[in-house]
Amino acid sequence: MYKNIVVEEKNKINIITINRPKQLNALNKDTIEELHKAIKLSEENLNIGVIILTGAGEKSFVAGADIKEFADFTISQGGNLAKKGQELLFSYIENCSKPIIAAINGFALGGGLELAMCSHIRVASSNARMGLPEVSLGVIPGYGGTQRLAQLVGRGKANEMVFTAGMIKADEALRLGLVNHVVEYDRLMEKTEGIALSILNNSGSAIASAIKSINASYKEGVNGFDTEVEEFGKCFGTSDFKEGTKAFLEKRKPNFRK
Ligand code: CAA
Repeated sequence: MYKNIVVEEKNKINIITINRPKQLNALNKDTIEELHKAIKLSEENLNIGVIILTGAGEKSFVAGADIKEFADFTISQGGNLAKKGQELLFSYIENCSKPIIAAINGFALGGGLELAMCSHIRVASSNARMGLPEVSLGVIPGYGGTQRLAQLVGRGKANEMVFTAGMIKADEALRLGLVNHVVEYDRLMEKTEGIALSILNNSGSAIASAIKSINASYKEGVNGFDTEVEEFGKCFGTSDFKEGTKAFLEKRKPNFRK
């Protein structure tokens, strides 16, 4: 079904591995389309509650957009590359109603760091290296990097990382709040799946409302507090709310995902 990715279903988690290790898992057009499809199918699949994104091999999560593919592009082709990529994948991931966790197993550069940053949670292995090196190629980050890096680490540090095109190590990324956790490489999936399992104890419909409300704060012209009020109200009409409150009153664990 896929050429560039592998999808494995495990305990209501879809683990999607970008599988072009010889190109350090660089994101070409086909890979972006396959990732879009796999995430859409995961979102539609009632058996799946969390999605994990990772890269094949020990060296790289994703080393960026595929430079070979865009080296000859014109101005309009360049603009389209960024627009289509953002629509199909990066904004799509950010707005996915199911949590997406990036397990960063090595280089996360350019489009690779942008992929991690649009995910809802980031876990890195201690060998991971992160950066936005685009200006060293004469271009800027085009998959949301200029926006999301500043949101995560603050504008001053984002400016420095983008202008110098430098890479930071995993412990520095942790200190800056760019990643949530750092673990040894051989514990990366165990740690990431552990977070996914804790999420799976909770209500999927409430988590979808939480994602929408948290994202609202970063959307132009949208009042996040209003979105929160609306989503809060909606929760009262869900079967998960009935189960969650009933279970509390009956002093038992809720069973949200039958
Ligand atoms: N695109 C296409 N191919 C890539 C790639 C990329 N982003 N990154 C690595 N590769 C390929 C290399 O060309 C090489 O292929 P060949 O064996 O066919 O020559 C293979 O992967 C292995 O890479 P290296 O030999 O370079 O490995 P290394 O260990 O010496 O260096 C590295 C590793 C530091 C990550 C280096 O590969 C590198 O700097 N890669 C490019 C990183 C980059 O600039 N990313 C930003 C891309 S632009 C972007 O993402 C735009 C956007 O925001 C939309």
